[in-house]
Amino acid sequence: MAQAKRVQVAIVGAGPSGLLLGQLLHRAGIDNIIVELRSAQYVLGRIRAGVLEQTTVDLLDEAGVAARLHREGLIHDGTQMAFGGKRHQINFRKLTGGKTVTVYGQTELTRDLMETRHEEGAPTIYEALDVSVHGFDAKPVVRFHKDGAEHEIGCDFIAGCDGYHGVTRASVPAAAIRTFERVYPFGWLGLLSETPPVSEELIYCNHPRGFALCSMRSPTRSRYYVQCSLDEKAESWTDQMFWDELRRRVDPEAAESMVTGPSIEKSVAPLRSFVAEPMRFGKLFLAGDAAHIVPPTGAKGLNLAEHDVRLLADALIDWYDHGRRDLLDSYSADCLRRVWRAEHFSAWMTAMLHKAPNGDEFDEKLQLSQLRYVTTSRAAATSLAENYVGLDRV
Ligand code: FAD
Ligand code: DHB
Repeated sequence: MAQAKRVQVAIVGAGPSGLLLGQLLHRAGIDNIIVELRSAQYVLGRIRAGVLEQTTVDLLDEAGVAARLHREGLIHDGTQMAFGGKRHQINFRKLTGGKTVTVYGQTELTRDLMETRHEEGAPTIYEALDVSVHGFDAKPVVRFHKDGAEHEIGCDFIAGCDGYHGVTRASVPAAAIRTFERVYPFGWLGLLSETPPVSEELIYCNHPRGFALCSMRSPTRSRYYVQCSLDEKAESWTDQMFWDELRRRVDPEAAESMVTGPSIEKSVAPLRSFVAEPMRFGKLFLAGDAAHIVPPTGAKGLNLAEHDVRLLADALIDWYDHGRRDLLDSYSADCLRRVWRAEHFSAWMTAMLHKAPNGDEFDEKLQLSQLRYVTTSRAAATSLAENYVGLDRV
């Protein structure tokens, strides 16, 4: 006999989407539970995003989880683009009338959200096995196994915040959903190290050997990426091999001043563009990576996920407080407009900065021309800056 429970909103997945949604609903007095496949420690061990748009920071403020972010996050006025051996700055603050981004690791944000949820006594079930969703056209139910027992949660709505490989999108009948996808023929090998960042701003590098990115987590912790082939294994790269390859791809000044050290983490991420339409199926709403993936070059994935969550939280609050359903009805279309803008920006950044495995010199010449354009034309630089900081309302 399954152990039964009832909540207003059942959230599947305790990544940044599920946790922030849970927090916004909890603050609005809407009772919710999060059901997560992995342990909290596993979720915190995944090193992912690092760049937050101002609108994401504002949302975290509103959710009451941004105190540490304001103490420890690094505000960046711009970013650097390196190509042809030289570095060029794109100044977001000047080009966008004062907008900036904040560098704060997804791991730290996730930790802040988890701790707040724990302190406020809102429930999260970690290590929930065989999670399944049912009845979202009428009476939604989430089922799972935990410690050998079967559990069932009845609810008004299900939020599918379980990422690209999750169960919620996969539970939608094939005839009700369309997907659009592009898989890139390369990945990113990332390395985290307790070393000071090579530059005060991120450096996005286009190099004949392939893309590289110099990022950071704090004044003493760096995050670097190099473009790699899809079949690359992180274990087959020694730290020395990584640092040597990174030094070859960055500009000479960065290569000279880069401080290297042992890695804390190394991993390979594939690059993918993906959108599922619509994002709502009756009483099931998808949010974040469950509905869409962008290649990481534009630093958009986490920001897009939190934008979905803001719209979903507003729609659910409006429903519970005023009985209005128009925001629930427009949720999918409202999200997808921003999603496709971010898809375009991320694909464009990816094409401009990476070496295409089957590309030729013509492709390289086009990339360099585009890079010269975005670093010299005010109009082109403003377009990049507006998209990067999230002024891309459409
Ligand atoms: P996820 O973080 O994937 O969380 C989903 C959760 O659901 C997970 O905890 C998972 O364990 C759980 N789950 C999965 N299946 C089930 C199931 N069956 N049952 C229950 N739970 C389940 N974005 C940016 O904005 N800026 C960046 O700088 C940036 N850099 C990135 C760099 C890299 C290398 C990568 C890989 C990504 C980057 N991103 C970036 C993207 C960003 O990390 C994601 O968009 C973000 O994690 C999405 O959050 P989410 O909560 O929607 O999904
Ligand atoms: C980081 C990741 C990104 O995808 C990006 O565009 C910038 C920074 C990071 O992990 O720091």
